[in-house]
Amino acid sequence: MSGKGPNSGKSAVEAHYSAHPYPKADAIDTMALRREELNTLAGRWSQPIPRDARILVAGCGTREALSWALCFPQAQVYGCDLSSTSLAIGRSLIEQLGVTNVRLEQRDLLTLDDEDGLFDVVSSWGVLHHLPDPLQGLRTIRARLRPGGVMHLMLYSRRNRYYIRDFQELVRKLAAPGGGDAGAKMATAKGLTLGTGWKDSRLARFSEYVRGQHDNDPPHWADSFVHPQETDYDLPGLFELLEAGGARFLAWNKPWTWVVRPRFKDPKLAAAYSALDQLEQWEVADRMMMPVFDLLAGLASDPPAERPWMGDDDALLDSVLARTDGEQIILQGNIDRGQRKPLKTLIVDRVKGRKDAVELHTLARFTLVRPRVVATLIKHVDGERTLRAACEAACASHRVPFDGPTRQELVSTARQLIHPYGALLVRAPGP
Ligand SMILES: C[S@@+](CC[C@H](N)C(=O)[O-])C[C@H]1O[C@@H](n2cnc3c(N)ncnc32)[C@H](O)[C@@H]1O
Repeated sequence: MSGKGPNSGKSAVEAHYSAHPYPKADAIDTMALRREELNTLAGRWSQPIPRDARILVAGCGTREALSWALCFPQAQVYGCDLSSTSLAIGRSLIEQLGVTNVRLEQRDLLTLDDEDGLFDVVSSWGVLHHLPDPLQGLRTIRARLRPGGVMHLMLYSRRNRYYIRDFQELVRKLAAPGGGDAGAKMATAKGLTLGTGWKDSRLARFSEYVRGQHDNDPPHWADSFVHPQETDYDLPGLFELLEAGGARFLAWNKPWTWVVRPRFKDPKLAAAYSALDQLEQWEVADRMMMPVFDLLAGLASDPPAERPWMGDDDALLDSVLARTDGEQIILQGNIDRGQRKPLKTLIVDRVKGRKDAVELHTLARFTLVRPRVVATLIKHVDGERTLRAACEAACASHRVPFDGPTRQELVSTARQLIHPYGALLVRAPGP
């Protein structure tokens, strides 16, 4: 572990997020809800989230608790965070959307205890690594998870953060003569990332990205360059943390970022990769792709998950096997990682009194579109049928050839159906 700042402690983190509420959420239609992740989660839960789940979002920031509440409308969501400004933004979004199944509180997650009861889902995304002692944080939230429940965690990967961590150290060093307070660090970081005298610097490689981040997403920029406290992990360190915290790794939340086999075009390289054990394969992905550690974990005391880690296609098939609770399904737009378009979230509502139609609208509401294929697919994926049956039925309705029974064909049919809309279905919990 590395990267702790000298100004460590809860108050510095609280001050940071009060000055830079995260994530940026000043307008409803900029909300990029984490459907894609939730979607993957839903497919790989060993015990599905109950309809009336209790969901804890520890370190909810501006909108994460709201995302869960929208995705699971019959759940009770409780979000806590240190930052009053983040919570104020969250409350205003909740009010604008008229969401009633979420409660927010300004609170240190380390104070969670038995009086809070147990939760079916505990999410702490991008939070524990900002605590002075992440292990203490993990143990505290793990103690709130019911047996069979699932934690959704994101922790910084050392490789992913390497240049940022270096840069933060530089900022601290150069800001120190001016007192090293948040204002001095901000000025120093701006001078170094946005100043014009650095066109040939190491950061110049990232300059367009950094500049864009600063202009379009200031909280993200601040998280990168002036955060007062963070810890990062390599893969062995991550698994040590989970074990010490009494947690069992279940799966990567975005499994496709951890599967690099299809990228090895040379058969010898592919064979060498395939001969590695699972951790070694992940080490390859960690070096090549540097994903953040976005994962699902259960209690170490739970029996091993029924479903071991699955490959890309399995995750896709599982994800697409959606069911609805009869009220609302959410689609996340533009998940195709090849297209770098802004995310757009669509909510799909059943139309009262009509079994054969759905309405799609954005969070800004009432932009009504009715893409027929998606609507048909939704109609067919009712939680009772298999993906195969749903695809067959949807293909038949739209005269798209459905090539037959092999798994690969099923995968490609699912992709064909889904990609035109850049959308995946999110499974809401059934009874
Ligand atoms: C990077 S943001 C992530 C927000 C949210 N989880 C998301 O993914 O959108 C980290 C959040 O953790 C909160 N936080 C950090 N330490 C905390 C603590 N000890 N108790 C509660 N919240 C904390 C911060 O205030 C901040 O809002």
